[in-house]
Amino acid sequence: MKVLSFYNIKGGVGKTTFAVNTAFEAARTGLKTLLWDLDPQASASYILRIAPKFKGEIRRVGEKNPRLSKSIKETDWPLLDILPGDFELRTLSQSLQERKRQANRLNLSIKYLQPDYDLIVIDSPPEASLVSENIINSSNLICAPVIPNYLSLNSLDQFTVFVDQAKKKRTNTCAAFNFVDQRKKLHKEIIQSYLGTDPRFIDHFIPASSLVESMATRRNPIQCISPNSIAAEAFKNICEDLLTLIND
Ligand SMILES: Nc1ncnc2c1ncn2[C@@H]1O[C@H](COP(=O)(O)OP(=O)(O)OP(=O)(O)O)[C@@H](O)[C@H]1O
Ligand SMILES: [Mg+2]
Repeated sequence: MKVLSFYNIKGGVGKTTFAVNTAFEAARTGLKTLLWDLDPQASASYILRIAPKFKGEIRRVGEKNPRLSKSIKETDWPLLDILPGDFELRTLSQSLQERKRQANRLNLSIKYLQPDYDLIVIDSPPEASLVSENIINSSNLICAPVIPNYLSLNSLDQFTVFVDQAKKKRTNTCAAFNFVDQRKKLHKEIIQSYLGTDPRFIDHFIPASSLVESMATRRNPIQCISPNSIAAEAFKNICEDLLTLIND
C-alpha cells in the first residue's frame, strides 16, 4: 500500500483537482483506492458528491481507530472510496498538538486503513501546519501542483524547504505544472526553462481548461466529463508518472 499526497502551501494551485482525477485514474487501472479529503473546505468530497458526515470523528484522526473507517463512503465508481472532509477538520492541528508524537499521528490511522487499499490519495489543505507535517510523514510521494508564474515557483521553494525539514522518513517529492496556457509568453518561457532542467518537475503538465474548471459544477472527474479531451489525457499521463515514481 502506498500513500500519494497532493500538497502545496499555496492555495488554489490545483491540489484538489489533481487528487480527485488521480484517485479516479488509479481506481480505473485496478488499484483499490481511498481518497482521503483532509481539507476542511471538503472540495474533493463535494466534487464526488459525497456529503460531509464527520460528527465527533476529529479525535479518531491520528488514532488506530475502527470508527474512522466507519466514515468511509463508496463513490459511484468501482474501487474508489472516499474518507470525506468536513469543516470540523479546521481544528485538526490543535487536536494533534495535544497528543504524543504529534507529527506522526496520521501514520497510525493509515496503518489501520492500509489492509483494505492499494493506494491512499490525500488532498491537503493549503497551509504549513502540524496537519501538513503529519501528511508529509505518512506519504510515500508528495506532489505539488504549480502554476507557471514566479509567485507559485517561490512557493515551491518554500514547499521544498518545509518538506525537507518536516520529513522523518524517506519521502519522494515532485511538482507538476497546472493551469498552463501556452499562448502566454510567461507560461511558455517557464515551461521551457523548467521542464527537463529542474528535476523536481514531472514531464507532463495540465493545461488551463474550462472542462477542468467545470468539475466543480458537474461534480465529476474530468474523465467522466470529457474522456477524449487534452486535459483528461494529461491527467491519465500524470497518474502514470506518479504511480511509476511512487513504486521506484
Ligand atoms: N487546469 C485547470 N484549468 C482550469 N481551472 C482549473 C485547473 N485546475 C484547477 N482549476 C480550478 O481552479 C480552482 C482551484 O483548483 P483546486 O480547488 O483544485 O485548487 P486547490 O489547490 O485544491 O485549492 P485550495 O488551496 O483552496 O484547496 C478550482 O475552481 C478548479 O476547478
Ligand atoms: Mg483544495
